[in-house]
Amino acid sequence: MNGFAFLVGGVLPYFAVLVFVLGMSYRLRVWYRTPQPAKLKLYGPSETTTARAVLAEALFFPSLFKGDRALWAMSWFFHATLALVFVGHFRVVTGVIDHSLLSLGMSERAIGQMSAGAGGGAGIVLVVTGLLLLGRRLTTPRVREVSGLPDFFALLLLLAIFATGDLMRLGAHVDLAETRRWAASLLVFSPVVPEHGLFLVHAGLALVLFMYIPFSKILHLGGIFFTQALVKRS
Ligand code: HEM
Repeated sequence: MNGFAFLVGGVLPYFAVLVFVLGMSYRLRVWYRTPQPAKLKLYGPSETTTARAVLAEALFFPSLFKGDRALWAMSWFFHATLALVFVGHFRVVTGVIDHSLLSLGMSERAIGQMSAGAGGGAGIVLVVTGLLLLGRRLTTPRVREVSGLPDFFALLLLLAIFATGDLMRLGAHVDLAETRRWAASLLVFSPVVPEHGLFLVHAGLALVLFMYIPFSKILHLGGIFFTQALVKRS
């Protein structure tokens, strides 16, 4: 195994998990320790209503829809497609979804075709919506004013991950069985790393993203449940 492959595929995954777990523990501690306004029990919404409203906010972004339709469309499609891509990665790494579809009577060929269509389409939608979100930050004066280096870094990092993923999907094919073997080998602390250049760049960038999440605004993914619970409850 060459040195780059060993570092990216054999060392970085463990380091990234460590940074992520420590970073998240710190962030959760800060959130839980932040004083919250008193709960409005008598006339305020019940806990169930609050939970439902927070879930709806996290899934469909209704407040954003009311405020800015164009931004809502870009953001919602961006996040929904990202969720689809994560399902696809879960399929590649575990093989669980394939087993279920095969047992439901779907052929391997049909599964492959469905994955190629959904994955290929999703990858393109992500690049397009990501570029639109980046363009909005650069060209809308009001948005540009409140955009800092971290906002651009997060978007560019995501775009680099999407682009390398798309290149693998659409051209420089990687053996998915090797990817699965790699993931399994990490679990038993005996990494067997695929020596595919683009795969290593894609996975390396994804692990950088993973480490960056606890310290960045990408954590709105979890923060929304804390902040929206406060907003909907008061
Ligand atoms: C270490 C983690 C990751 C690994 C090992 C990995 C691996 C892969 C592989 C092997 C492919 C090609 C699939 C194919 O040809 O069928 C791919 C595609 C892709 N990846 Fe990743 N990936 C990782 C993380 C991520 C993350 C975090 C994102 C997004 C933020 C992402 C976004 C994409 C996209 C958009 C594609 C193209 C569309 C698709 O095939 O779904 N990947 N990835």
